[in-house]
Amino acid sequence: MAQPATLRWIGDLPGVLRLIDQTRLPGEFVEIDLQTVEQVWEAIRALRVRGAPAIGCAAAYGVIVGIQDFLKAARPEFDARLQHVLQYLATSRPTAVNLFWALDSLRDVAASLPTETPAAIARRLLDEAQAIEAEDRKMCTAMGQHGAALMPDRGGVLTHCNAGGLATAGDGTALSVIFAAVAAGKKLQVFADETRPLLQGARLTAWECHQRGIPVTVVCDSMAALLMRDRKVSAVVVGADRIAANGDVANKVGTYSVAVLAKAHGIPFYVAAPSSTFDLTLDSGAGIPIEERSAAEITHGFGKQTVPDSVKVWNPAFDVTPAALIAGIITERGVIAPVDREHVTQHLKP
Ligand code: MRU
Repeated sequence: MAQPATLRWIGDLPGVLRLIDQTRLPGEFVEIDLQTVEQVWEAIRALRVRGAPAIGCAAAYGVIVGIQDFLKAARPEFDARLQHVLQYLATSRPTAVNLFWALDSLRDVAASLPTETPAAIARRLLDEAQAIEAEDRKMCTAMGQHGAALMPDRGGVLTHCNAGGLATAGDGTALSVIFAAVAAGKKLQVFADETRPLLQGARLTAWECHQRGIPVTVVCDSMAALLMRDRKVSAVVVGADRIAANGDVANKVGTYSVAVLAKAHGIPFYVAAPSSTFDLTLDSGAGIPIEERSAAEITHGFGKQTVPDSVKVWNPAFDVTPAALIAGIITERGVIAPVDREHVTQHLKP
């Protein structure tokens, strides 16, 4: 069964950004309409919309939300507003490069129209935001097709966090691979790491698989070693937030541990990500900015205090998996393997 769109533009100019509030899942399915750029910023920061490609799409539409009251303004005032909105949205989250990629695409479109009216520029920016969304949907489908062949014919596949439809405009990255493999007749059982502290695996991956009728079992993050030792999983597939030129991958914190465990147990560890998730300006994963989130996500997860008052907490939201632990990176173009600088460069050549 197809799941509802993670996000979509409603109306024309003016319009609103409608998205599923992912903080309410799985208990409640609620869509929210965002009418100000501050609301879009907050939705990205609070993970109402999350996952690298979905953040990129939301930011692109966020620009339209932020400029649409300035269509009758004089050009200098419109330009100043556009720059402000672009800079502001760039501060919402630091790690997923898709956010910056989408904002840069819109900035480039505006820069290519030096003599147009604000209304004409806004129209072109809306077209661009819609093209980014449509392109993301296509890339998800292509990743699924390329990755399905790498999945076992039957058995367990482990994933971490949520890299499904909720994290993209389409069917997802890692989950698209699993969905395509199942559609091709493979008998897969998904194991979803619960993904502390915000439980994207338990809340979102489990919800998506369940909606589609794909068998899914949620495990605590600390159970992955046991799953692998007992041969309950024979492959791992995860998404990515940013991939450096040498193939190092930033993804949800805990991904690195899973990759180390997979290596120790001789289980292939795959990453699925579109080309918009690569950051070739970074030589290695050491340069990837890692978001640190509030201590309250750990001390008071989902409302209950689980850490004594005044105890220190460290809450990085992502970690970096070294390229050497990755059996292949699945993109919309095919599969990068082995994962190293040479093959990444070759694969992404225009
Ligand atoms: O903090 P989140 O929920 O935005 O983190 C998301 C992830 O780490 C995903 O695995 C990644 O963005 C890939 S989504 C296709």
